[in-house]
Amino acid sequence: MHTINSIQQVLDKYPNARISITPTPIYNLSRLSSHLGCSVYIMREDLTGFAIGGNKNRKLDYLIGDALQKRADTLITTKASSFSRNAAAAGKVFGLEVHVILVGDESEQNSNSQALFHQFGTILHYASGNSAEDITAEYDRIIGDLRNQEKAVYELHPGGSDSIGSLGYINAFDQIIQYSKNSGIHFNKIIHSTGSTATQVGLLLGQCISEYDTTIIGMAASQKADVQKERIRELALATAQMLEIPFDDSKIVVDDRFIGPGYAIQSEEGENATNLFALQEGVLLDSVYTGKAAAGLIHYAMNEMFSENENVLFIHTGGNSGLFY
Ligand SMILES: Cc1ncc(COP(=O)(O)O)c(C=O)c1O
Repeated sequence: MHTINSIQQVLDKYPNARISITPTPIYNLSRLSSHLGCSVYIMREDLTGFAIGGNKNRKLDYLIGDALQKRADTLITTKASSFSRNAAAAGKVFGLEVHVILVGDESEQNSNSQALFHQFGTILHYASGNSAEDITAEYDRIIGDLRNQEKAVYELHPGGSDSIGSLGYINAFDQIIQYSKNSGIHFNKIIHSTGSTATQVGLLLGQCISEYDTTIIGMAASQKADVQKERIRELALATAQMLEIPFDDSKIVVDDRFIGPGYAIQSEEGENATNLFALQEGVLLDSVYTGKAAAGLIHYAMNEMFSENENVLFIHTGGNSGLFY
């Protein structure tokens, strides 16, 4: 295996704005492990500290770093999400103007989400038609206006899932390697929720660079496995090209069996998993992402899909705001 420095060497030339509070805790879930009859660890990426925490802060470390290096003074993104709310907070802290284009008119927005945007001084725009064309038209109009005002605009992918955002999870993978080195615990399986893809892309590239022997399993939050795998492959290849490293796409593993009735709709298995994590470990999961990923983990454990001496790492990617909506 290469040294951990190989990851840092790859990341070195990309500025990191250090928004996340890391390393995040990794520890054994002892009661859940006894209950499931296998050795389960958790990486608390919900506790990345800044704003509402979660995996988005890791992406913002590099996205804000890149925006500042490019001397941007304005950020723009779309949709009310954990990414756009944390981006709004990060932009403010670094003195950037932040514009977010929301889907639907003002009266249709979630009041808690709006309160956070207002707290962070975000400039909100509303694309009142709900179609993708309406959002694109409003986006193009606003970005055109900002450029006419000679703003230096930095565009943020709605989930922070572009090549620069992916660097955050290459860095997170380095933390996993560091933990393994210090503790002597090797993770045979790593399980997490996958949506806009940069989390899994970063982890997979971190694995490729370091040659750490593990299987990274993305539990799909919304897409069929073949579609999600292709999205991951595309971003991973683009990012590998940017970094000038090889990427082995045979490592991409996605399981779509735990989406339940659909994206953002509660599933019975997800709710059971959420209850188990809360009751056994006092760990809170959300119903859109982490609860469903945990349902996959529990299914694997119950169906003896982990072998006896394996260590499994569950990455808790956040979703904290979803707990209060
Ligand atoms: C809590 C949570 N977990 C996981 C994900 C998926 O991460 P990614 O979008 O990088 O695939 C998201 C994305 O929105 C999320 O909010």
